[in-house]
Amino acid sequence: MNTLMRLSPQLHHWRTYCIKQCAAAGTEAAARGKPSYEEFIGSRHQQAQRSIVVQVSSEKSYNELYNYCSRFGRIVTVQHYSVQHEEELHYMLLEYASASEASAAISSSAYNAELSGSGVPVRSPFLWFRAPTGGAGRRGQAKLAANQKTLALHTVNGTRSLSHEALKELLRGAAGIDQQLNLLYEQTRLNELGVRMRFLAALQVEQAISGMFPDALAQPFGSSVNGFGKMGCDLDLILRFDGKIPSTDQDSQREASRLIYHTKENLSNGRSQTQRQMECIGDMLHLFLPGVCHVRRILQARVPIIKYHHEHLDLEIDLSMSNLTGFFMSELLYMFGEMDPRVRPLTFCVRRWAQSCGLTNPSPGRWITNFSLTCLVMFFLQQMRQPILPSIGAMVKAANTADIRVTEDGINCTFARDMDRVGFQSRNSSSLSELLLQFFEFYSQFDFHNRAISLNEGRALAKPDHSAMYIVNPLEQLLNVSKNVSLEECERLRIEVRNAAWMLESEVENATLSESERREQSWGLLNLFKHPEKSVIRPNMFFKPRMVEVSDLFDKSQTSPPTPPPINYKSPTVRQQVQSIKAAARSELKQLRESSTTTTSAAKTKRSR
Ligand code: GTP
Ligand code: MG
Repeated sequence: MNTLMRLSPQLHHWRTYCIKQCAAAGTEAAARGKPSYEEFIGSRHQQAQRSIVVQVSSEKSYNELYNYCSRFGRIVTVQHYSVQHEEELHYMLLEYASASEASAAISSSAYNAELSGSGVPVRSPFLWFRAPTGGAGRRGQAKLAANQKTLALHTVNGTRSLSHEALKELLRGAAGIDQQLNLLYEQTRLNELGVRMRFLAALQVEQAISGMFPDALAQPFGSSVNGFGKMGCDLDLILRFDGKIPSTDQDSQREASRLIYHTKENLSNGRSQTQRQMECIGDMLHLFLPGVCHVRRILQARVPIIKYHHEHLDLEIDLSMSNLTGFFMSELLYMFGEMDPRVRPLTFCVRRWAQSCGLTNPSPGRWITNFSLTCLVMFFLQQMRQPILPSIGAMVKAANTADIRVTEDGINCTFARDMDRVGFQSRNSSSLSELLLQFFEFYSQFDFHNRAISLNEGRALAKPDHSAMYIVNPLEQLLNVSKNVSLEECERLRIEVRNAAWMLESEVENATLSESERREQSWGLLNLFKHPEKSVIRPNMFFKPRMVEVSDLFDKSQTSPPTPPPINYKSPTVRQQVQSIKAAARSELKQLRESSTTTTSAAKTKRSR
């Protein structure tokens, strides 16, 4: 205990030092005009503090709401979205010019009298706009309406994503595969409103506990903020009790104070302490936070999480309290995405392709995750003869003291945050469609059996164990990111990348369709995303092995399960290549069958003896 007390000021100073260094690095990047990850996160966090969400009866309530809410301050923007419950529920996300104005609007709110006795009055940025009470109320509204100049509603139905059919139509009308790739990215990525909503969800948790934990910080990470998220993606959230960056004078004075808070010492080891704290936070979310429902505690996982749904935001949330490496990994991915405009569209396409052929699945299991898939794309872009991305090792080498980040459990997440210092410039001028094809070709030939993928080195290494797929965890290099992937799933990936390479090759070589043919047929990426129904979770997936029989793929005459429709190869060269590969596979298959028959009969003979 005494040692702890002696160490505590040192630890506190070290934390403060790291935080200040973070802030300094952010300012440096801002001066160059490109926001750093920390700046991006910081500005979104502040934006959430200036925002409220109000439930309304429909988007037609906008003028009335605008007029009413203008009394608390200057409204900067309002966006509408709806959530489908038993009926459609409508919401407006309002941003004020300052946090104090948003706070004034929240503080002015009344508690729902209908719920008194059965509901706990809780302060949060999630409000409801009730009908005016009495004639006076209505007269007041009318007067305000006449005086106010209403800002145009920025967005209506801002969270509605493009339907599969509409996306297909859009891709069909593109001028080429490169444009299809860009359209796919632009039309399916998480939009502005989606990002705002996710930061509000984080702020709600943080503010709910700020009375007891004034330094608490809830930060979004993962695809919601790294630029690789699509519309409707989950929110990954990390909650830290001591995460707040000192920003006010009062904060700075506290650092020098001679009065120190008495605090409780942790009673058990770090992991079980975190699990107990999370249980407690889970109960608090479940019992008190408006909008939070379906709270599930998954506390035995490597990274314990609380999962919940937010009904006012229509959002699935994974909250952790001990996964700071995930946060820094998101920073790395954010930086990769910022380094070259081709990185994100390419990754979006690969993720969508994987989903359409059932390689990824929203539920955890023995299949590849979106994160591992993203690592495959990053690695592909690093290992090229003309790389598009630098290795993480190069970013670590270029780091200076402002880049030092060490997590609470001692994991070093230091790498240069300023890309100018890394001095990496890509000379690769390949188009997106060329890169996509090269990606599929690269993994068709990759030796998953013997080689591990290292983003740190930007090259393949000898595989340290017998996992089917080995991707060195960039921030914890003794771990394998794709440890969960089974041999069958790895094989399926190899088969699917090969199919995709064949398919895309014939598409690239046949870019000769007339405009009317393009409008009528599936072409380019549409032929890659042929099986959207596979993305649906089927219960039997969890019980049946998902190994695909090689014979199913090649030998139609001998298989009863449905086979994919025949591919219409327009290039004779490609058709010939495919046919010769099929022929070779058939003969291998035949040999395999023959040898297995011999082995089986030998085994039978042995048993009968
Ligand atoms: P989707 O949720 O599928 O859209 O993608 P995601 O990138 O958000 O993936 P996920 O929710 O699985 O993980 C959230 C973030 O945690 C990722 O973006 C990574 O930054 C990080 N992460 C996930 N798995 C690992 C891992 O094994 N090692 C490290 N260092 N970070 C990880
Ligand atoms: Mg996620």
